[in-house]
Amino acid sequence: MTRRIALLLALLLALTLGCGPTAGAVPPVVEAAHAAPAAEAPRAVTEAPPAAAVPAPLAPAPRAESAPAFSGAAAHQHVAALAEMVGSRPAGSPSQVRAQQYLLEQFRALGYLADLQPFTITFYDDRGSTVTVAGPLGQPIAANTLQYSAAGTVEAEVVDAGLGRPEEYEAAGVQGKIALVARGEIRFAEKVDAAARAGARAVIVSNNQPGNFNGSLVGLSAIPAVSVSEADGQALRQALQGGPVTARVEVDASMEQRTAANVVATRPGGPRTLVIGGHFDSVAAGPGANDNASGTAVVVELARVMAARPTPYTLQFVAFDAEEIGLNGSAHFVSQLTEPRRQAIAAMINLDMVGVGDTTRVGGSEELRKLAQTAGTQMGLDVSTLEENGGSDHASFLRAGIPALFVHRTNDPNYHSPNDRAEYVDPANLEIAGRLVLDVVAALERAE
Ligand code: BES
Ligand code: ZN
Repeated sequence: MTRRIALLLALLLALTLGCGPTAGAVPPVVEAAHAAPAAEAPRAVTEAPPAAAVPAPLAPAPRAESAPAFSGAAAHQHVAALAEMVGSRPAGSPSQVRAQQYLLEQFRALGYLADLQPFTITFYDDRGSTVTVAGPLGQPIAANTLQYSAAGTVEAEVVDAGLGRPEEYEAAGVQGKIALVARGEIRFAEKVDAAARAGARAVIVSNNQPGNFNGSLVGLSAIPAVSVSEADGQALRQALQGGPVTARVEVDASMEQRTAANVVATRPGGPRTLVIGGHFDSVAAGPGANDNASGTAVVVELARVMAARPTPYTLQFVAFDAEEIGLNGSAHFVSQLTEPRRQAIAAMINLDMVGVGDTTRVGGSEELRKLAQTAGTQMGLDVSTLEENGGSDHASFLRAGIPALFVHRTNDPNYHSPNDRAEYVDPANLEIAGRLVLDVVAALERAE
């Protein structure tokens, strides 16, 4: 039986449980900011059994040498299941429920005690936005809602306000008007907040590279905010040279409370715990194969490899939900830890975007980073350091005083785009990440 057939069988089983993929769950495709690179043919790295669909009891720990090896090819099957069969998985969406069920099945089939850990999120439902220039020549301009933009319709004069710095709004006189600003240098939320403070009624952010893009304000804005392509931004600026331009900006969106859930698998063991995790939600704009079906897939494959390995630790494998809306899943996980359990966590290892790019990067606690760099050197890898620590789930653990390691790979040209597809995720990269984590775990175990 080929692995693809086995995977289909596993998904069929999931379907009978009411959690299989359905058509029509993929959000509208939006224009990508970058052209897709030539696809690298996925390489099968090592043979491994298929993703198991039949629950089996946890076997007693055998001798170390009988533990299975990490397989990049097996991990890639989970990437395909999440990114191709389930597709785009924004937190709170119906497809995300199917992803949760798929992961729950995988962990249970490997013999783990696995459960959902639900929590409430504010779901931003974007029904689209438009920008229309008034007058006889006025045409609608293709616009994307900046996530968490206020909803509403604003009709007013457009003014060019540079990059959207407070002093630029002041100089441009944006009071009561629509501010046109270029992408770059300052976060979107800061541009929009400063515009609102200066009295602007809406903001249009024009891209600083060809095409449009999908941006997020991370939190609700006071005024409607949309993005347009670089070319449409230039055309608007050109029109402004000829005299006043009036436009209508319309954002159709709403917020509602929905349920998201982490998938938590546990292998009870010693008093100290190792948490290995990655987020499985994606942005709405694309299928999130590298961000972050890749990290989730490595977590599931590590769970397979480590199920039968002797270890002094209690192991927890966690697929975090709602990372893309502000690290909510990991923040919830950490908030649910009792003080003794928080203190018992020896380390958290977060895998985010490990399938594309040519350099392994590690971030987080210095001691763990050094362990990973030593392990990487022994594997013949050039492991570089990532200084910025805010953008993924390990940050929630660091904030709670728990040692955490961030494993990442750079650079992905399809980040947060419709082109973040499974075919660009290289099984060999998944295997590098998996082996690196196994070596770090072995080093931690030796030090226990
Ligand atoms: N996977 C990314 C984080 C990332 C991107 C790490 C590039 C390293 C390099 C993550 O899903 C993400 O997009 N995070 C947001 C912040 C989050 C709090 C919404 C980000 O980095 O902008
Ligand atoms: Zn991510």
